[in-house]
Amino acid sequence: MTERTLILVKPDGVKRGLTGQILARIEAKGYTIAELQQLNATRELLAEHYAEHEGKPFYEPLVEFMLSGPVVAIVAEGQGVIPGFRSLAGTTDPTSAAPGTIRGDFGRDWGLKVQQNLVHGSDSVESAEREIGIWFAK
Ligand code: TYD
Ligand code: MG
Repeated sequence: MTERTLILVKPDGVKRGLTGQILARIEAKGYTIAELQQLNATRELLAEHYAEHEGKPFYEPLVEFMLSGPVVAIVAEGQGVIPGFRSLAGTTDPTSAAPGTIRGDFGRDWGLKVQQNLVHGSDSVESAEREIGIWFAK
């Protein structure tokens, strides 16, 4: 079954000019780019997107970081793309992300700046549909 996932190139990835390399990895894996737009997030949008993390100690710094510059929102399609993109992204903390992953190869803001990990990828079919609705509301 073909599935869809919501990918974000976060402000650190956009500022560092890594959008093209990230898209190239998605396409090299055989996934299709179904939607793509660059935009500035808002507090309201991020409150919806990160609702599961509200109240956690890293929530406010995460939201501030996500407001610090434009993000590129992508809907990618393909068989197994939801876990597949998370494999391409690597573990949340770039300090320990494996070489060959986006966060492992490009992540360099270690330690306290875990939020600067370049990309977001949905973690389940339910999150993907919910997040696509948030970022690509028509
Ligand atoms: P999470 O959904 O747990 O990670 P992932 O992006 O791998 O699905 O967390 C959302 C974002 O919050 C994560 O990308 C970076 C940030 N974050 C922190 O800054 N500190 C933390 O301890 C965690 C768990 C996440
Ligand atoms: Mg997550």
